[in-house]
Amino acid sequence: MEISDFSSMKLNSRPELIDFEGISMIHYFTDNWEKVKNFQARPDDILIATYPKAGTTWVSYILDLLYFGNESPERQTSQPIYMRVPFLEACFEGIPFGTELADNLPTSPRLIKTHLPVQLVPKSFWEQNSKVVYVARNAKDNAVSYFHFDRMNMGQPEPGDWNTFLQKFMEGRNVFGPWYDHVNGYWKKKQTYSNILYMFYEDMVEDTGREVERLCSFLGLSTSAAERERITKGVQFDAMKQNKMTNYSTIPVMDFKISPFMRKGKVGDWRNHFTVAQNEQFDEVYKQKMKNTTVKFRTEV
Ligand code: A3P
Repeated sequence: MEISDFSSMKLNSRPELIDFEGISMIHYFTDNWEKVKNFQARPDDILIATYPKAGTTWVSYILDLLYFGNESPERQTSQPIYMRVPFLEACFEGIPFGTELADNLPTSPRLIKTHLPVQLVPKSFWEQNSKVVYVARNAKDNAVSYFHFDRMNMGQPEPGDWNTFLQKFMEGRNVFGPWYDHVNGYWKKKQTYSNILYMFYEDMVEDTGREVERLCSFLGLSTSAAERERITKGVQFDAMKQNKMTNYSTIPVMDFKISPFMRKGKVGDWRNHFTVAQNEQFDEVYKQKMKNTTVKFRTEV
């Protein structure tokens, strides 16, 4: 496999969960750990940090359009989003995909994606005072989206049936560890590190234009209203689902017949998955795990 060509990517079996620095991981995200840990961030880097399935691709695409949409239109039609926004910790078939791409990006600022929990983010990002855009999604929808992702992505551990997956989710036995610690960790970091914009998927669905404006003001970008409107239109779910550069259809280890990457893009789909008993159990666990935090999710969704 070449770093620039994922079409030949093949996997013979699914990876097993491993314990890494106290969190559940798979080897694809730890094989390149020395380089990830020592990654040299730059002051103008923008780190897009999320728990998996919280809207990473969406916010990555918005940022890419904000910075490079006018400057290099061919970038939008020839390069999949994962080539434009390197996935820092990813290492496939021995290729240190994330660090390699990030170190060789021809454009700046660099947009870099990570799913690492806050305590594992390379320290140079904090030392360089890089900007961090964090997107959080409500736990129930996040769990549902993650379940379908694990079903269709042979690069992820076998999820089992929905109930098995949900029990594991509540215990934090997912790749990148517990959702609860992830969202709380970045929320807490924000109290001492001001260069984090903490966003919610539900807000982006409610009013994408407003959230694009929030991003612009955080990043200090003076984009025109017409430009913001154009971007807002281009990043709607249906547009991104049709767009080969953002819908992940170029990754062969994802089986869209099982579930597409751009699956539903809705708030509240958990209602179609949780039984009454599962919901009660989940609420109980949620109350416990979230009792010491001030971060507020729209739990009514
Ligand atoms: P669903 O599985 O609920 O549909 P990530 O990029 O972090 O892997 O997140 C993927 C989730 O974000 C998927 O959720 C996907 O459909 C959703 N998503 C991606 N782009 C979106 C958009 N433009 N609008 C709404 N949801 C979007």
